[in-house]
Amino acid sequence: AAIRREDYRAPDWLVPEVALSFELDPARTIVKARLSVTRNGEHDRPLRLDGEELELLGVRVDGAAVEPRFEDGRLVVDLAGPAAVVETEVAILPDKNSQLMGLYASGGILCTQCEAEGFRRITFFPDRPDVLSRYTVRLSADQHAFPILLANGNPVDSGIGPGGSHWALWEDPFPKPCYLFAIVAGDLACNQDSFRTASGRTVDLGIWVREADLPKTQLAMQALKDAFAWDERVYGREYDLDRFNIVAVSDFNFGAMENKGLNIFNTRYVLADPETATDADIDAVAAVVAHEYFHNWSGNRVTCRDWFQLSLKEGLTVFRDQGFSEDMGSEAVQRIDQVRTLRAAQFPEDAGPLAHPIRPDSYMEIANFYTATVYNKGAEVIRMMRTILGPERYRKGTDLYFERHDGQAVTCEDFVRAMEDASGVDLGQFRRWYSQAGTPKVHARLEQKDGKAALHLRQDVPPTPGQEAKKPMVIPLRVALIGADSGRELGPERTVLLTSAEQVEPFAEVGEPAFLSINRGFSAPVVIEAERRPGEIEALAASDPDSFARYEAGQELMARDLLAAIRGADLRTDAVVAAVGATLRSNQLDPAFKADAIALPAESQLIEKLNRADPGRVHDVREAMRRAIGQGLSDDLSRAHMAAGGADPASLSGEAKGQRRLRGATLALLGAGDPKVGEALASRQYAGARTMTERQSALMTLAMLGGDKAEEALGDFYARFEDDALVIDKWFAVQASVPGEATLEKVEALMRHPAFTMTNPNRLRALAGNFASTPSAFHRADGAGYDWLAETIVAADKLNPQTAARFVAPLGRWRRIEEGRAAKMRAALERILREPGLSKDVFELASKSLG
Ligand code: ARG
Ligand code: ZN
Repeated sequence: AAIRREDYRAPDWLVPEVALSFELDPARTIVKARLSVTRNGEHDRPLRLDGEELELLGVRVDGAAVEPRFEDGRLVVDLAGPAAVVETEVAILPDKNSQLMGLYASGGILCTQCEAEGFRRITFFPDRPDVLSRYTVRLSADQHAFPILLANGNPVDSGIGPGGSHWALWEDPFPKPCYLFAIVAGDLACNQDSFRTASGRTVDLGIWVREADLPKTQLAMQALKDAFAWDERVYGREYDLDRFNIVAVSDFNFGAMENKGLNIFNTRYVLADPETATDADIDAVAAVVAHEYFHNWSGNRVTCRDWFQLSLKEGLTVFRDQGFSEDMGSEAVQRIDQVRTLRAAQFPEDAGPLAHPIRPDSYMEIANFYTATVYNKGAEVIRMMRTILGPERYRKGTDLYFERHDGQAVTCEDFVRAMEDASGVDLGQFRRWYSQAGTPKVHARLEQKDGKAALHLRQDVPPTPGQEAKKPMVIPLRVALIGADSGRELGPERTVLLTSAEQVEPFAEVGEPAFLSINRGFSAPVVIEAERRPGEIEALAASDPDSFARYEAGQELMARDLLAAIRGADLRTDAVVAAVGATLRSNQLDPAFKADAIALPAESQLIEKLNRADPGRVHDVREAMRRAIGQGLSDDLSRAHMAAGGADPASLSGEAKGQRRLRGATLALLGAGDPKVGEALASRQYAGARTMTERQSALMTLAMLGGDKAEEALGDFYARFEDDALVIDKWFAVQASVPGEATLEKVEALMRHPAFTMTNPNRLRALAGNFASTPSAFHRADGAGYDWLAETIVAADKLNPQTAARFVAPLGRWRRIEEGRAAKMRAALERILREPGLSKDVFELASKSLG
């Protein structure tokens, strides 16, 4: 049942024009479609239309009714000539649509989600991204329940219909694939604004939400205007329609969707103010608003030929939104966050049974390939191209790409070729990043003799499912040598291109013993294994002039001592405590950097570096290190915690956000050092909190310490925010993220809480997603955590396969876990696979995870 990339064939029939008419009713909606089809090339094959859960009411060809015929679940229409008008009429049931793909109802709003293959749940159509059409859409609905009717493009007409109904007609002048189709109907209020483009056109901007949520749309609106301006300035891309609408809905399978001129968002990435959203939430709103807007060029004007090319638009658009966030905030702090996300989500994927290249070769269910690999590693691949070409030639490359392929559905290969043609740089070998999975390991040794240095590099791309032997990649490494005595950079930083399995890079006279600062700025998505001299890592962690590299050295230092202890040595805490202390006391580092630099590597990251880890032991050792930091540095931590409390609650400046982040990080360590002190400080911070950032970090520390104070704060939090679904998600998330074996009972109880529901993806993710990514809670020695997750997946799959499938991956990590637990993880996967009627989403991931 796998679909293979190499089997791609151009469509037999094209659909240049579509007219759709909706009689909207949540109980039963009638959809009439009028497709003008033209034959693509010479052949005598019939037109085949995808359709799913559609009640077919009639088919006409050039006005004459025909008897419907189905083959392999598709509607087959025989056509005599090279062109025809094909009309269908179907009924669909939005209220019954719990998959949230196609047309569905969310809190009284009717909305759509079509990417990747949801349009076939709305009408019969060749549901593939290389069929581009011009759409005319007529919506009619009850005027009272659905006063607002929106679709892609421009509104052209509207009026009153019979029986209390009204209608609106929309036209989208830009040909688009059906996955970008969208409509919305509901009782919505609008935050309205406008943007004047570089060429002087005025674009009307609208953010549509429930009336009560209007005050929480201001940050998203500002981000939208910033994104319009940034894309003009940095990529020379201007918006193309007269209006741009965003609608927020509560029930949504992922973050947001870039439908042409009518983005539809999870409320989580639109609604924000400092009292109910953390600074991290607020930054995520801006990043997602920008991401979806940037898709207008990287995705919509130039789209994907087939779904194997998904990274063409997603990798590029993530890279673009990262650039936006770097420019709006602190570049170094943004880069640290990006790398943390990559390591937490993508590295495990690349090292496990679900590993795939950023351009996969086959899939059973494309929804399973909206992964950290396609998105985040895909963005790293674009970043490496920019590093190799330099910013000017990179920009020439994107200009050529957009100009050459405007209005087309193209491939990753087309993107790389545009980069080559514009720059004159041969990217032949670089293309392996698109075809080879697995995170390369780079071994580095700096050899020093007679005042000269030589960097010995070796690369190793590990085998992944279906790819046993790998060829060497092109790995750009930003490298500098730092004087061991002077602490200065010895000569300018350079970018070494590692292209063969082994390579030696000579450095001219260095004059003094040197330390190696490598993969600065995380110039390549690889794991560096550097041979270190005594004191080298400590020195780099204290003073590497490149702040990302300094952060990395600190992490390497922490990982070194944690891993040694997990493997059985005595826990050495002195070097880490000294480094954290120096960071806290520094007058030069900004508070956001400090917060990142004092955080230990995540448990999941340590597990990845071990062979058959015992998650209980990983947790205990890491906790012992946190306790040592908390106790050894209680004065520095208290001082930093207190100072950070002075941040202006109304300010969203980098400085204020950094202080709040540092306040949370220091509080957590103080709690680890002395639970009594931590409890007192956290209770006080909670009670005096003026922002959600402060409130949430205090609540998390209290929840981790447990006891009456925790219960009190959780009770207060619930009562205070009972009516705010996004904040109640946090209430579930905090409790599901508490480390330790007792969390499962809590999670089971929370599942019976009246506010819990499986039908809302945000709520389900808050509970199941956070639980499964808290190793010491999920990996209970008795396997009960695995059983709970397996049951939850099976139950959720009956409602919403896409969201259920997102929870399978944690069970697939069994190869990294000690055998006792690993056997229980496999048993849980087998239990899932025995379930009758499993979706192909869950089936594909569970069976691949079992290996
Ligand atoms: N294109 C959307 C975005 O990244 C996400 C769509 C996700 N679709 C899916 N089937 N998972 O902006
Ligand atoms: Zn995207």
